[in-house]
Amino acid sequence: MKALVLAGGSGSRLRPITHTSAKQLVPVANKPVLFYGLESISAAGVREIGIVTGDTAAEIEEAVGDGSRFGLEVTYLRQEAPLGLAHGVLIAREYLGDDDFVMYLGDNFIVGGFADLAARFRRLRPAAQLMLTHTSTPQAFGVAELDAAGQVVGLEEKPTHPKSDLALAGVYMFTPAVHGIVAHLKPSVRGELEITDAIQGLIDAGERVDSTTITGYWKDTGNVDDMLEVNRNVLETLEPQIAGSVTESDLVGRVAVAEGAQVVRSRIVGPVTVGPDAVIHDSYIGPFTSIEGGCRINASEIEYSIVLRGASIEGMRRIERSLIGRESQIVPAPPTPRAHRLVLGDHSQVRIST
Ligand code: DAU
Repeated sequence: MKALVLAGGSGSRLRPITHTSAKQLVPVANKPVLFYGLESISAAGVREIGIVTGDTAAEIEEAVGDGSRFGLEVTYLRQEAPLGLAHGVLIAREYLGDDDFVMYLGDNFIVGGFADLAARFRRLRPAAQLMLTHTSTPQAFGVAELDAAGQVVGLEEKPTHPKSDLALAGVYMFTPAVHGIVAHLKPSVRGELEITDAIQGLIDAGERVDSTTITGYWKDTGNVDDMLEVNRNVLETLEPQIAGSVTESDLVGRVAVAEGAQVVRSRIVGPVTVGPDAVIHDSYIGPFTSIEGGCRINASEIEYSIVLRGASIEGMRRIERSLIGRESQIVPAPPTPRAHRLVLGDHSQVRIST
């Protein structure tokens, strides 16, 4: 079995972060969300993996390399535009050959991976095997309808009136039967070749489509609130470890301070992870915060946030529920005039308490 990871797309809901970087590389507990997926593919016993990339191809290739560090052999497949998940399958046709494959959405996060699902698929080989999860917002996802025996009888992409609360999570397994359907798909109303339409095509052709409904934690990390929530979830299991230097500071609960990082006259209440060479002075870092390498935080308070590489925060009370981009600078304004001065990227969102 091969894997096909979709790591292209535009990431419009994570702008402005995704103007300059791939949404699949936004870090969760200081590790790109895509890496958790690659680890679970490796854990499911898959070795050969095709990664579909778009505009951010260079960045993804630099981060993942040849995949050997995950025990994987990576082939990159360039998609000229985000024309849909099934379009990803279409351009991977030659790479996939006549092998079975697991399709994995590179911005999805699944605690516990999918090794059980893969074992079941290898044993029973239905034309498609879907991973489903109950959701309170089915309108935001592909939605599956099951019969009394649990077989998938219908699928709809982001329906206004969902027929169930079962969302398609980002792991799909296929035999090569899917290629015959994908080759004849027409774009949906949103102009994409939908994988849900391809699976519906399999059902209509009388093929067997099985599903497994997971009860574990799953999230599509498409927006900031979801990223923060996934970050919280991963930090819950953080292993405390102090490799950097901690001076005149108070560390409470699970805190990881990476090598080269400095914590001075500060209070950190975990779970919190501080990346290599970050410097924290005279500050309070509250629960569920990830601070990437090279950040500088001085005389500030921050919690429930993700701070990306090289950002600096100075004299801020207090920041919470925030995603702060790479090399961003947050500094205090002069006392007069009492005005905000902002230099923000396109599609930035700022909430200022006045
Ligand atoms: O997250 C689960 C949902 O993912 C499913 O419930 C939906 O049925 C499925 O269509 C998909 O919906 P999204 O609208 O969330 O998909 P998104 O555009 O975010 O793309 C998912 C991943 O695939 C993401 O890593 C980007 C990548 N992608 C997307 C498209 C459209 C590509 O590589 N190429 C593409 O053309």
